[in-house]
Formats: sequence, C-alpha cells, structure tokens
Amino acid sequence: MGKTLTGKVAVITGAGRGIGRAIALAFAKAGADIAICSRSSSSLNEVKDQIKALGQDCVLQPLDIADPKAVVHFCDDVISHYGKVDILVNNAGAYQDRGAFAQSEPDEWWRTIEVNVRGPYLMTRHLISAMPEGAKIINMNSGKGYSAGQNSSSYHVSKAALKMFNEALANELWQQKIDVNTIIPGPTATTTLSQQDPNSGVTTEAILDKFTHEPPAGLPAWERVKHPDEVATLALQLASYPIGGPTGQVFSLARRPL
Ligand SMILES: NC(=O)c1ccc[n+]([C@@H]2O[C@H](COP(=O)([O-])OP(=O)(O)OC[C@H]3O[C@@H](n4cnc5c(N)ncnc54)[C@H](OP(=O)(O)O)[C@@H]3O)[C@@H](O)[C@H]2O)c1
Repeated sequence: MGKTLTGKVAVITGAGRGIGRAIALAFAKAGADIAICSRSSSSLNEVKDQIKALGQDCVLQPLDIADPKAVVHFCDDVISHYGKVDILVNNAGAYQDRGAFAQSEPDEWWRTIEVNVRGPYLMTRHLISAMPEGAKIINMNSGKGYSAGQNSSSYHVSKAALKMFNEALANELWQQKIDVNTIIPGPTATTTLSQQDPNSGVTTEAILDKFTHEPPAGLPAWERVKHPDEVATLALQLASYPIGGPTGQVFSLARRPL
C-alpha cells in the first residue's frame, strides 16, 4: 500500500506478539510512528527494535490495560511525546477462562471483562482528547462477541460488550470526524489460538503448520487459520482511509457467518 501513514501516530495495545505485533510493524512500514504496550517488557523491546530498524519512532510501556493508573501514565507519555494520536488499535485481549460456566472461577471470569472491556474503555477515554479529525479507532473483536459458542462465557460476554462499545463510540465520534470500526480476525496463528505458552519459542509458522493438519476444535472445516500479517493488512486499510471512510462497521476475515 506504500507509505499511507506517513506523519501519523498509532497506538497499538497488546503489541508484544501476535496480531498486535503484526499491526505495529505494518503501520511502521507504512510510515507511522508507534506507541505500544503490553505486560511483558522484553517482547515490547524486541518490537521497538524492529520498528526503529524500519526508520520509525517508537515509545513503549509495560502495563496492564485494566489498570487505570498505568493507562493514564502511558497515555500522558504518548501525548506529551507525540502531541496527538491518529490511530488507536484496541487489540490486547484476555482469553484465559476456557471452561464451562458452572466450573468458572469468579475472579478469572471477571478479569476477562476487566481486560477486554475496561482496557479499551480506559485507553480510548484517555487518548480521545488527543485524536484529531480523521483519526481512526479500531477495536479487535471476535466472532464470539456476535454469536456465543460453548464454554469461555466471559470471553463471549466481554466481546459482546466491545461490539456495543464500537457502535456507541461511532454514533458519537462521527461529529469529530473520528471513524470507529471493528475487525474480526477469525482464527489467526497466535499462541492464544494454539493455547501454547507464548514464551515457549513456538513460531507463527509452526502454529500455521499445526492447524493445516488439524483444524481448531469447534470450527467448520472450511475455516482457515491465517497469518497475523493478513489481519494487519486489513487494519492498515482501515487506518489509511481519508476523512469520511466507513464508521460503525464490522470487517471480518472469518469464513463463516457471524
Ligand atoms: N488469534 C485468534 O484466532 C483471534 C481470533 C479472534 C479474535 N482475536 C482477538 O485478537 C486480539 C489479539 O489476539 P492474539 O491472538 O494476537 O493474542 P496474543 O498473541 O496472545 O497477544 C495478545 C497481546 O496482548 C497482550 N496482553 C494480554 N493481556 C494484557 C493486559 N492485561 N494488558 C496489556 N496487554 C495485554 C499480550 O502481552 P502480555 O501477555 O505480555 O501482556 C500480547 O502482546 C485479542 O483481542 C483477541 O481476542 C484473536
């Protein structure tokens, strides 16, 4: 797509690995300066080095996006460093509660809501004043926010809330010419999908290979596990629209009805 984001500043949450990392690198390749966060500082530092090697600036902060004080501190830093935020990608997500509702652990259940709902709220709330006309907010949702499956009820509830968050913001922020859209990645080769330890050294290619021979449980045979870069390509397209692009919409890369 070329350098469509030259002069833009993008904030991407959960950019230490997986889809967030792919988006941060794609945006940097397109000419944006970047701010990233996640809990692990080592993965953030690796991504920062890659962004710098692409010739773009990068600020980072290890934080828990559900922690209000940490988010305020990060947002203040980003605004004082860059003076504005053109693109916010609310990507970081929790998916630890995988079992049946009746066996769910109350603190873990609620923690999913805190990360997946309170996190995007806090991040957006504290950056909105620095977002100029033409800015973009992209919320990373899931098909599970539109049609709940069995088990993992906290994930389904949290992503359903994020669906309404997207709509509510789009209905208000059009007046400031800020576009708010959702991406549904569909199954994507990350350690969240493969349920592997992110520190185990497993590669994206190994995850893709695993699911070539053995499709993820509960998904139809015609679903396809994609590379995180494919999600980043869609995010870049949405981030690159001029003022007046789509808003309040859902862009899905899944291969089944929502
Ligand atoms: N992969 C899929 O198949 C798929 C499908 C549908 C939707 N999604 C959505 O896509 C988004 C990204 O998922 P992914 O598969 O790329 O996951 P991932 O590989 O596990 O990456 C998640 C990122 O978020 C960070 N993170 C997690 N909890 C955090 C917290 N409390 N505070 C700050 N950062 C946090 C992680 O870093 P730390 O652990 O170091 O904090 C990591 O950088 C999520 O919203 C997910 O729900 C993914």
